[in-house]
Amino acid sequence: MKIWGLTGKRKQKEPTRLDFIQTDMHSHLLPGIDDGVADMAQALDTIRHLHALGYDRLITTPHILNDYYPNTPEIILGKLKEVQDAVAEAQLPVTIEAAAEYFLDETFLDKLNGTEQILTFGKPKYLLFETGFMNEPILLNEGIFQMTIKGYQPVLAHPERYIYLSGKTKILEEIVEKGVLLQVNILSFTGYYSEGVKKMSEKLLDMGLISFLGTDCHGPRHVDALHELGQLKSYKKIQQLKLLNNSL
Ligand SMILES: [Fe+2]
Repeated sequence: MKIWGLTGKRKQKEPTRLDFIQTDMHSHLLPGIDDGVADMAQALDTIRHLHALGYDRLITTPHILNDYYPNTPEIILGKLKEVQDAVAEAQLPVTIEAAAEYFLDETFLDKLNGTEQILTFGKPKYLLFETGFMNEPILLNEGIFQMTIKGYQPVLAHPERYIYLSGKTKILEEIVEKGVLLQVNILSFTGYYSEGVKKMSEKLLDMGLISFLGTDCHGPRHVDALHELGQLKSYKKIQQLKLLNNSL
């Protein structure tokens, strides 16, 4: 696509490429088990588009959220197999694996102390977790402590989106000091969620607090929005991030 710059000279828009990330570690691509893709056709379509953007490996992370999304390792790994088979049949050159996005509440702490397998990814057993959006969860410190002593490496999903962390960089730094790694959503930089979330993602970028980037892709609407990244002023800086995605 061509646009006219201020000088009147034709300027080529930079296409969005996500090759520099290699592996995505946050998405909802297993159909029918959370609020992600609706069916197998949509799953394949979304995977195809993510691959076209530059990903060659997708670690998808269905929600595990008490009664809303009561997913278990059996449900997730069973559905993963179906998607892997469909990806192979469609001859898409992309590896798809699964972990989970755990919601931090009492039931999560019970799981940490129970016998059910905890779904993680990578070598230091990265454990992706999210919290409620409005208020600082009373279990935040306890949850971080429990994950750590059980031998997991906690990764907080999209800290830039939580209202209780908005503008509270001191609290974020404290969370990081406790050993939590931060995963920012790529879409946050584009303003997809809100202007405030965009500002917060830029702040985290400037502070050097981003360990992982994730698509948090729930389907086609998110794939379309991902294409806007290449148009941003911050695109260069984002491309220069030293990400743990590449080490997975
Ligand atoms: Fe998510």
